[in-house]
Amino acid sequence: MMSSDSTSTHLVFLLLLLLGCLHLETIKLTSGNEDLNVGCVEKDRKVLIEFKEGLNDPSGWLSSWVGEDCCRWRGIGCNKKTGRVIKLDLTNPLCIYQLFYTEEGDTQVFNMSCLSGKINPSLLLLKHLNYLDLSMINFGGISISEFIGSLENMKYLNLSNACFAKKIPPHLGNLSHLHYLDLHGQSNVCDFYGIYADNLKWLSGLSSLKHLDMGNVNLSKVGADWLQAFTMLPPSLSELHLPRCRLDSLPISLPFVNFSSSLSVIDLSGNNFNSSLPLWLLNISSLANLNLSGSSLRGPIPDAFVDMISLQELDLSDNPFKVGEIPRTLGTLCKLKSLYLFHTNITGEITEFVDSLSGCTNSSSLEMLDLGGNQLSGHLPDSLGHLKKLTSLQLARNSFWGSIPASIGSLSFLKELDLSINPMNGTIPESVGQLSELVMLYLFDNSWEGIISEVHFLNLTRLEQIVISLTSPKKSLVFNARNEWIPPFSLKSIQMENVQTGRSFPAWLRTQKELVEIHLNNVGISDIVPDWFWKLPDIMFLNLSNNQIRGTLPSWMKLPDIEYLDLSNNQIRGTLPSWMNFSNAYEVYLSSNLFSGPIPVNIGETMPRLVVLDLYGNFLNGSIPYSIGKLKNLATLILSNNQFSGELPGFWKGLQSLQMLLLNNNNLDGELPSSLRNCTKLDTIDLGENRFSGIVPKWIGESILSLSILRLRSNLFSGNIHRHLCHLSNLRILDVANNTLSGVVPHCLGNLTALVSGSYNYSYLLNEIILVVAKGGVLEYSDTRVGLVRSIDLSNNNLTGEIPEEITGLLRLQTLNLSMNGLTGKIPEKIGNLKKVETLDLSKNQLSGSIPQSLSSLTFLTHLNLSHNNLWGKIPSGNQLQTLTDPSIYEGNQALCGPPLVAKRLEEPSQGPPSIEDKDDENGSAMLWFYISMALGFIVGFWGVCGTLLIKKTWRHAYFRFFDNMKDRLFVIIAVNVTRLKRKMALVRNQGGG
Ligand SMILES: *[C@@H]1O[C@H](CO)[C@@H](O)[C@H](O)[C@H]1NC(C)=O
Ligand SMILES: *[C@@H]1O[C@H](CO)[C@@H](O)[C@H](O)[C@H]1NC(C)=O
Repeated sequence: MMSSDSTSTHLVFLLLLLLGCLHLETIKLTSGNEDLNVGCVEKDRKVLIEFKEGLNDPSGWLSSWVGEDCCRWRGIGCNKKTGRVIKLDLTNPLCIYQLFYTEEGDTQVFNMSCLSGKINPSLLLLKHLNYLDLSMINFGGISISEFIGSLENMKYLNLSNACFAKKIPPHLGNLSHLHYLDLHGQSNVCDFYGIYADNLKWLSGLSSLKHLDMGNVNLSKVGADWLQAFTMLPPSLSELHLPRCRLDSLPISLPFVNFSSSLSVIDLSGNNFNSSLPLWLLNISSLANLNLSGSSLRGPIPDAFVDMISLQELDLSDNPFKVGEIPRTLGTLCKLKSLYLFHTNITGEITEFVDSLSGCTNSSSLEMLDLGGNQLSGHLPDSLGHLKKLTSLQLARNSFWGSIPASIGSLSFLKELDLSINPMNGTIPESVGQLSELVMLYLFDNSWEGIISEVHFLNLTRLEQIVISLTSPKKSLVFNARNEWIPPFSLKSIQMENVQTGRSFPAWLRTQKELVEIHLNNVGISDIVPDWFWKLPDIMFLNLSNNQIRGTLPSWMKLPDIEYLDLSNNQIRGTLPSWMNFSNAYEVYLSSNLFSGPIPVNIGETMPRLVVLDLYGNFLNGSIPYSIGKLKNLATLILSNNQFSGELPGFWKGLQSLQMLLLNNNNLDGELPSSLRNCTKLDTIDLGENRFSGIVPKWIGESILSLSILRLRSNLFSGNIHRHLCHLSNLRILDVANNTLSGVVPHCLGNLTALVSGSYNYSYLLNEIILVVAKGGVLEYSDTRVGLVRSIDLSNNNLTGEIPEEITGLLRLQTLNLSMNGLTGKIPEKIGNLKKVETLDLSKNQLSGSIPQSLSSLTFLTHLNLSHNNLWGKIPSGNQLQTLTDPSIYEGNQALCGPPLVAKRLEEPSQGPPSIEDKDDENGSAMLWFYISMALGFIVGFWGVCGTLLIKKTWRHAYFRFFDNMKDRLFVIIAVNVTRLKRKMALVRNQGGG
């Protein structure tokens, strides 16, 4: 899934690395030549050769280790006078590159590019060695050699990310000259190993230490006095890194505060302290940078922060503080440059805090303020404008409301402004146009009102991204720009979903030559697309859906880089000619337009990467081209509501990624090709409203075991309902209505697990209210409901026999429609077990006997139809039944009596097969289906893009390559396939490389 772009980015990066290495090598060689170089001492050379023999070197990193003068070998440093080896540095940047830029956990790549092997004890003979870097070598889970503790001249020791395991040898404590010790635990590729310590007394021997990193080292066995061991470190210590060490206590007080005046960095992130922030930490006056991210701190931030007068950076992100507000006193830290309180569960307003910050003499030093992902509310204070040095203001995902204060215009260094995902319901001031350094403007998912005009962008010469998409389609924000406007910026991304930009196509876009991403969906465009637009060279993501775009797509249209194209819900007409040669396209949505003619026959060759193809609701005709069978990544194929005809090609063997196949409402015919059984990942099949014939194949129940929706409604299928269908344990919707199926209703339908119990795993993804039309009326199913629709519809066939008792075991079933068949016998006595049933239609059969009393216990029942059977006796009463007062639901029965039937009366027994009617009902179901498929289409699309992005690092890096200037606390916006479900923004906090 790597785009050619990302490949080339990576190649460039690799080349740079290589050049870098060569360059270093050159310098080393020259300096070696210049000096009075006595050359390498022979016995050291032998040791190195022996050492090399213990290593595997698949990339040839040590290929320079030949010849007499080992001082010239890569990674070796010698004392120029004595010729003794003093430095051994085997860091391999290629290996680092691979580790961080390839998929996580790709051990194979790691093994192919990195050194691996053993440490030969003869290393000990390098008596003068003072610098040893063995980081990133894969030692495959051996323990750190004890003898390293005997290399007594060692000043620099780096054993990080080297796949060591077991206990750290206390012998390291003998290295009394050591300045730098890095034991940072292994990276993702060897996480099945791990080093630990159960005792840290040896630390006290490191009497020259300045820098200690024991990240990822398991210190959980050290016990509660772990901290004491670290206080034994010498006063020279300036950096202490203990992230993710499984420390579970943070002492409130410290017996000996030995942390000296030089300690400037403490990293205790990713532990699980579950305690409040201790004051001793705050008493380390030299501290410039404190990181407690993700350490499960409790309680509010102590006021004592105010004493840390020299604190420059405070990072308390990802700590679920007990609910508390931002202490006002934080605002008096006039030297603070960065304040990270991302995702800390703080509440309240920020007015006081910002007011006090703005009281600093010479103004506050704050450059970076991240309060994102909290429960902050209220409006934004005017005093924000006093934080003159701000370069980044992150207030996303809170509950701020109101307008942006006009004072924001005085933040003349501001590069990033993120107010996304708040209920901001006021206006955006024109003074935003003064932020001449602004690069990113993220205002999406708010409810802005008013007008944005050219003035709002007056001096924004550096702006690259505008994301103002609104949550609701109500037209509350207008974007007003003249056609002749020449903006000062050159955008890479513009996202203005639901903002009203006017009826004519925004002509000023013509000046934007670097655009990569455009989302102008539902912006009110009612126009044809001008020719120049189709020539924008760099577009990768284009969404113009939900407008009234007219005209045709020109035959010369070129979007060479397009990966995501959504033009759905417009009025574009014409054919889909061979211009559809978007060779990089992953997702193409052209649904609900006026396209006509056939699908280009070569589509499988011209768009080989397609994952989603959605042509729903056009006037396309002809047969389904054979080349679609070549789209081996295709996961979603939607051709519904067109005029396609002919038989299904037998190309399915190549479509093994297919998960959703929607071909409903066309003129397709013939039998189902047996090669369809190769699409074993299919989750949803809708072939309804066609003229397919033959039997419902047995292999559906044998091969497509993940199937959850099978809809074959309104075709010419005949034969029995095969028992194999009962093997489909995920089946939630079985709709074979309006066919000519015969035989009995299989008893085993009672085994359909998904209808008996369990939840459905799609549901949690849906954030939208989805309209589901069912039961003859419009219902609103909220997110959780739509994923849970469960129904069996066998109506209007020729089924005979009794209603199997087992069907009453389908405790989750919501709709059961068996009407218009020839069913006989009684209604199962336990019908009342179907506790979730909302719709029960048994009408137009030949059922006899009385109506079971248990029916009255169905509390969700809103639609009942028992008409036109041979039922008799008293209609049960009570509960929900009482509310179903329409007498027609019981009419046409032999001898039913009691309310809601007006008076006791006898009716003619109904005879013969029931007539076909209820067209409305059918439409209702079709709509139901339509909305369900929309929802599912969204999900598949969502995972098609976002799922991949979340999982594949490489791809993610390329995808957001122009979002990457915010280092590790970057918010990344993924605008996803949402048109058909209105829209959806996913916000992903990029953890990449961290
Ligand atoms: C945040 O605070 C709320 C109470 O307002 C609490 O229910 C929730 O669990 C807290 N979140 C975390 C991550 O602690
Ligand atoms: C904006 O939202 C706030 C908080 O919900 C509300 O009090 C205020 O009246 C709203 N303002 C407007 C103009 O709708």
